[in-house]
Amino acid sequence: MLEKDTQEIIDSDIAAEKHVKEEVKKNKLIVYVVALVAALSGLLFGLDIGVISGVLPWLDKYWGTTPETDEFIVSSMLAGAFAGSLISGYFSRKFGRKKAILISAVIFGIGSILSACAPGPNTMITIRFFLGIAVGIASFTAPLYLSEMAPQRIRGALISMYQLMITIGIVLAFLSDTFFSYGEHWRWMLGILVVPSIIMFIGIMFLPESPRWLLLKSKRKKAQEVLRRLRNSELEVEAEIADIEKNLEEKQDGKKLFHNKNFRKALYLGVALQAMQQFTGMNVVMYYAPKIFKVVGFASSSQQMWGTVLVGFINVLATFIAIAFVDKFGRKPILYIGFLVMGLAMSVLGFMFYFGVETGASPALQYAAIGTLLIFITGFAMSAGPIIWVICSEIYPLAGRDLGVTVSTATNWLCNAIVGATFLTMLNSLGHDVTFWIYGGVNLSVIIILYKFVPETKGISLEKIERNLLSGKRLKNIGQ
Ligand code: BGC
Repeated sequence: MLEKDTQEIIDSDIAAEKHVKEEVKKNKLIVYVVALVAALSGLLFGLDIGVISGVLPWLDKYWGTTPETDEFIVSSMLAGAFAGSLISGYFSRKFGRKKAILISAVIFGIGSILSACAPGPNTMITIRFFLGIAVGIASFTAPLYLSEMAPQRIRGALISMYQLMITIGIVLAFLSDTFFSYGEHWRWMLGILVVPSIIMFIGIMFLPESPRWLLLKSKRKKAQEVLRRLRNSELEVEAEIADIEKNLEEKQDGKKLFHNKNFRKALYLGVALQAMQQFTGMNVVMYYAPKIFKVVGFASSSQQMWGTVLVGFINVLATFIAIAFVDKFGRKPILYIGFLVMGLAMSVLGFMFYFGVETGASPALQYAAIGTLLIFITGFAMSAGPIIWVICSEIYPLAGRDLGVTVSTATNWLCNAIVGATFLTMLNSLGHDVTFWIYGGVNLSVIIILYKFVPETKGISLEKIERNLLSGKRLKNIGQ
């Protein structure tokens, strides 16, 4: 009898455990669906970065654009993204994360169609500025939404997934550009982006609003409902609500914090990190890859386009290196390796130009140049690409996080615009060799800044980083 009872208890325990495990799975699936849809805005970000490289050669051909006009066309989107990122904090606070992403999807869609119909360079520049505003809003709001929806244990992975979506967006744009280049349908390259915008709009409509924002607007009941769908138990839901409410008491007061010297140090670090990411020269390759292939001696459009697709794929694949090792080896070792690889690759490319690769003298040298370019891409994607975003989401005290992330994201776009607006001019005025040497030198110098100022933030809670920072510890040591 007793044995039977014990067996029953064991059986019911096993059944309960199984039920809990299933619940965990079920909830996790919902979280991943939410994450996937939200990360679609990363895809759009990537598509808009990637698409222009394939369009430029046709604008040169049909509109007779000069390198200066090309630079304007590239960087107008980036200037728009700079403006968008500046207003995004206000936007996502006032209207909610979901509405902010929805609005950006609408601007993406309309902007894609309009840019496909642009009658000339000036309209194209204006429309791309408008499109950029959407990219800027999405680049701030989507990672914020993701981090607010994710259970703590997979937060890092979800932010890295966002970067992965950017790289996938870039390669998809390269592929579709290549496809349309066969019929010289460059307007389709731009117009097709309306499709992912619509998919994103519909997907986002079905997503719940962020519980943190709902609590910010005192909608406790709704926040509870959302969290119940995302978390595994009532206990987890209540603990998270209590946590958020406690955090919200500590009002976002970036302006007041700005007077705090230690907070300003974190802001400078965020600005420096994003500037360092952009001045690697990564986006030079993203925007002007077909031109670089041409300069290196690959004359046909199809060679240039497929070469660009290869660049995009390497960018996606190497991002997995960062995802795999960022929590194992830490942020700094990976950044050291990445910047060393990028610095050497850019310098070697400079030498290749110096020895005449652009004259197409030797096919072996041409292939070596492409190989070096791919090594550079690997260096970026395994390090600066994802890790700079990760560190920038970790170093700000909670009360100043909105301001901090706004400022560093805006810096990313501003420096991106500077790089996009100066590369061709640098090539033409300084020469190919010197331009690449400058980028090489910048990448190598970053190693000193990394050593002197950048903290290792692996495996430490955000609260501890905050305490260390505000107690006046040196930046380099706030992760200890
Ligand atoms: C950068 C973008 C860049 C992309 C390339 C991102 O981390 O912020 O500027 O185009 O990586 O994969």
